[in-house]
Amino acid sequence: MSSFAETIKGTAALVETALDDFLPTQDGPLGRVVDAMRWGALDGGKRLRPFLAIAAADMFECPRVRSVRVGCAVEMIHCYSLIHDDLPAMDNSDMRRGRASVHKKFDDATAILAGDALLTQAFEILAEAETHADGAVRCELALELARASGKAGMVGGQMIDIYAEQKDFDLAGVTQLQRLKTGALIRFGAVGGGIVGCGSSDEVAALSAYAEDLGLAFQIVDDILDATADAETLGKPVGQDTEMDKATFIKLFGMDGAKSKASELVDRCKSHLDRFGVVAAPLKGAADFVLDRKS
Ligand code: IPE
Ligand code: IPE
Ligand code: MG
Ligand code: MG
Ligand code: MG
Repeated sequence: MSSFAETIKGTAALVETALDDFLPTQDGPLGRVVDAMRWGALDGGKRLRPFLAIAAADMFECPRVRSVRVGCAVEMIHCYSLIHDDLPAMDNSDMRRGRASVHKKFDDATAILAGDALLTQAFEILAEAETHADGAVRCELALELARASGKAGMVGGQMIDIYAEQKDFDLAGVTQLQRLKTGALIRFGAVGGGIVGCGSSDEVAALSAYAEDLGLAFQIVDDILDATADAETLGKPVGQDTEMDKATFIKLFGMDGAKSKASELVDRCKSHLDRFGVVAAPLKGAADFVLDRKS
C-alpha cells in the first residue's frame, strides 16, 4: 500500500470511531432514523473531506480531538448529500458505497429524515465547546460550513445539476456547477482544518485556493469514473451522467480533454501549498490520490 493510502486509512479510522460515538443506537421508533443515519454514514467512503480537515489542521499542530470533530461535521453533511442525491426524486440510485442506498434499505421518508438529521447534527458538533475553546472559532467554522452546504454551495450546485439536464452549459457554467456541487464541501475540509488550527488569514486563503482546484479535479474524475469504471469497483451505479445527459467536462471536452483538465488542476492545486514546506506533504499526496483514484 502506498504511504498516502496508509495515511488516509489512519485518519478514516479516527473518523469512523468518532462518527460511531456521535450516533449511538436507540430503541423505539426514534431508533429507526438513527439506524438509517448509521447506514448512510458509517463503514464506507474514502473519507476525503475529513482527511483534508485533519491534514490541514495538523500543519498548525492542532490537537486531533478538535480536527476530527471538524472532519466528522463535514463528513455528516457529505453523507446527507449522498442520501438525498440517491433518492428517486434525484438520481434514483439503488447502490451507494457497495451496498443498498439508504432509501432502498429503509424507505424514502426515513432517508429524507436521516439526511436532515445528519445535516443538523453537523452544526451541533461544530457548536459544542469540545471543537474549540474559543467561541469565535466555532462560529467561523459554522459560518463556513453553512455557506459551503447551502444555496451558495452544495445545495445550489445540486439544483443547477438538475437544471443542467435540460439546458446546454458552457465551460463557465459547468465549472460553476462543479465548484458548488462538490467543490464547496471539499474546500470546507481544507479551510475548516485551517480555521480550527488557527492559521492566519493568508494561510487559510492558500488552503482555499488549493482546495478549489482540488474540488474541481475531484468532480471531473467522478464524471470520468461514471463513464469508464464498473459499478462493483465504484460501489455505485455507473453511466448515469450520459443517461441523464448531465453537464460534465467530458460532454464539453471529450474524455481526453477532461483527463488533461483534471491533471492540470491537480498540478496547480499543489503549487498553492508551496509556502507551507514539508508539512504540506499529506495534502499534496491527497491531490495525487484524487487524480489516480479508481473509486
Ligand atoms: C461522491 O463523493 C459524490 C461526489 C461529490 C462526487 P465521494 O467519491 O467522496 O464519495 P465517498 O464518500 O468516497 O463514498
Ligand atoms: C452528487 O454528484 C454530489 C452531491 C451529492 C452533492 P453525483 O450525483 O455525480 O454523485 P454520485 O456520482 O452519485 O456519487
Ligand atoms: Mg447527482
Ligand atoms: Mg448521484
Ligand atoms: Mg457522479
